[in-house]
Amino acid sequence: MKKDIIVTPWEVKGNIDYDKLIKEFGTEKIDDKILNRIKKHTKDIHYMLRRNIFFSHRDLNWLLDEYEKGNKFFLYTGRAPSGPVHIGHLVPWIFTKWLQEKFNVELWFQLPDEEKFLFKENLTMKDTEKWTYENALDVIALGFDRRKTHFLIDTRHANLMYKEAVKVAKKLTFSSAKAAFGFTNETNIGQIFYTAMQAVPAFLPSVLAGKKIPCLIPLGFDQDVHFRYTRSVISKLGYYKPAIMHCRFLPGLQGLEKQGKMSASDEQTAIYTIDSKENVEFKIKKYAFSGGRETIKEHRKKGGNPEIDVSYQWLTFLEEDDKKLEKIYNNYKNGSLLTSELKQILIEKLNKFLKEHQRKRELAKKQVERYIYKGF
Ligand code: TRP
Repeated sequence: MKKDIIVTPWEVKGNIDYDKLIKEFGTEKIDDKILNRIKKHTKDIHYMLRRNIFFSHRDLNWLLDEYEKGNKFFLYTGRAPSGPVHIGHLVPWIFTKWLQEKFNVELWFQLPDEEKFLFKENLTMKDTEKWTYENALDVIALGFDRRKTHFLIDTRHANLMYKEAVKVAKKLTFSSAKAAFGFTNETNIGQIFYTAMQAVPAFLPSVLAGKKIPCLIPLGFDQDVHFRYTRSVISKLGYYKPAIMHCRFLPGLQGLEKQGKMSASDEQTAIYTIDSKENVEFKIKKYAFSGGRETIKEHRKKGGNPEIDVSYQWLTFLEEDDKKLEKIYNNYKNGSLLTSELKQILIEKLNKFLKEHQRKRELAKKQVERYIYKGF
């Protein structure tokens, strides 16, 4: 992989060649064949699958084999609380919600409240406690089934998780962690151990049930590294290797190449779920990288470039209607749709979504406790 493309859990930058990621990390493409297999069970195909936003997987055919034999899986994903949730975080969760609904399965959602404490210089445990609560609201607001969704908070469930994490940790060496994560001798030892905690929810439901249950993890590709190594450890412990589905990165407002994936710590790349509609409008107008031409006259004549236009790219993640999207693409490309008009479409789409999300987020405040796993 070229040096100017960076994909690690803490940095994603560059013009990412997703086919290369698949090759480099030995995952498999989500192709029409597997989409048809999924469709047999889900009836329709989520737009994130149709558009190849979820583009890669590990062992999904095996997972479906088991499912077809009547061996149901559970879902697992997570969020390390460190700041406000932005639109990019929602991408895999929206898809996870769809999977939960279509397959009628349990979701285990990890909120590792120690992770970013260990990885970020200035974050205290008190901060992450606050963000755990705030971020949980965003997850609940997406509509996950309360009876089938279980939050695991690492410090709160330490009693349950630590015992399993040490079993993983015992089978991982420092040299493989170094190679996977780029750790050095200066890295604090909490960071080195952390990946063992992230492995736990992939088999904890099996521990609790006293039998092996298949697991499917939808995630952003940068998180794959955690499981690249622990998958085989999990199978050595006597559980199934989790299957994985990977999604693409939502570019930051200024584009993947310049700025990388949307980052919660950079005001100018991100739209937060709690942003006001004025703020959304301001940020899109001011920062969203445009594939339009210098002047309106030139734009009308030569047309814009939707491939590099961030507003258009975002619509591919947000607009469910294929026909609408295609029309926007064509009109932008032929110059009849101006950048300002395209931005307006995105602003309206986002604000409509956020208005509803913020309403549900308020309601979620009464429900957080009920989502937290209590069966231990
Ligand atoms: N490490 C993830 C983050 O930085 C949080 C996380 C925990 C996660 N478990 C996961 C993400 C499983 C995807 C799948 O936010």
